[in-house]
Amino acid sequence: MRFWSVLTCLQLSDAEAGFVLASERVASKGLLDGTGADLKVTDRDDGGPLMSVTEEIKSYWEAKSLTPLDDQGLRPTGRDSFLQQALEEAILKHLPADKKILDVGCGDGSSTSVFARRARSVVAVDYVENYVKQAKELCAKAGLKNVECIHGNVLKLQQDVAASRPFDVAITIRCLINLPDEATQFQGVDNIFDCLSPGGLYICSEGWSESWAALDAMRERCGLEKMYLVPHNLLISKERLVKHLAPKADLVAYESLGFYVFLSRVFQPMVTAPEPPQHLHPVNKAAHMLSSLGISPSYFNELGYPGVCVFRKKA
Ligand SMILES: C[S@@+](CC[C@H](N)C(=O)[O-])C[C@H]1O[C@@H](n2cnc3c(N)ncnc32)[C@H](O)[C@@H]1O
Repeated sequence: MRFWSVLTCLQLSDAEAGFVLASERVASKGLLDGTGADLKVTDRDDGGPLMSVTEEIKSYWEAKSLTPLDDQGLRPTGRDSFLQQALEEAILKHLPADKKILDVGCGDGSSTSVFARRARSVVAVDYVENYVKQAKELCAKAGLKNVECIHGNVLKLQQDVAASRPFDVAITIRCLINLPDEATQFQGVDNIFDCLSPGGLYICSEGWSESWAALDAMRERCGLEKMYLVPHNLLISKERLVKHLAPKADLVAYESLGFYVFLSRVFQPMVTAPEPPQHLHPVNKAAHMLSSLGISPSYFNELGYPGVCVFRKKA
């Protein structure tokens, strides 16, 4: 179980805290506070009833749902809007048309509405009632008549979507990382699989611990601090998830988005230092455009017109 006494509003898609060169560490505290950290101290020591970590995370999202846009004009459920668009495009690449979709942890329904345009029907589920309401309003405003928004929890999903299961495709974006430990995260995944038809697809973008570690290593190499992970997010090991699912599912495709991550979480902070990086920075916009065009570092070698040749004369 993870315990903490302070929750911040930064989340996995943010990772702006620590976007500083190591030489700027002194300034990093100010940077953290200056990029929208919203501190909520919980009552752990005053003799009042202790909230479970699960309840604490839920009340975090309930509080966030009251402010659809934060003071920087960013959606609390997905503050890096260019990353969110890149993610949606990556998911759409693998989303077959005209299917029955389940979107778990839908938040304000913004991405749900994108998937719904491709779907026969969508059931969108969130455990925060206010987000269910917002998702309903957003989809109605978009003229989508094929979306049903339901108040429910991934930990009792079979019951909450009993009337509509099974589904052809289930999607989660940064939902399971809000669960308190790996066993509970795997329980959530198992519940999702219980709601899928045989041959159905589970498409997820959560937060992979192996890639996070590789990103930290890259950042350190580039003189940047390690990424800051908010306490209410628990990264998932992709390797262990694949192993857990092996008896019932194969990993059939993977879109890494690593190029976007490199440009937005390594290149941009190096460009903007000592100023903090920004989610709406032109570098992130360009990174999203490159990602949309399918351009990745695998193309870089062939571009090197000034490439340096070193020849050795044969003996
Ligand atoms: C980071 S937000 C992402 C929202 C949305 N998927 C998106 O990409 O914009 C995580 C969402 O998952 C919801 N959530 C977290 N734990 C959940 C659970 N156990 N059951 C259902 N929803 C959950 C939160 O309320 C929040 O709306």
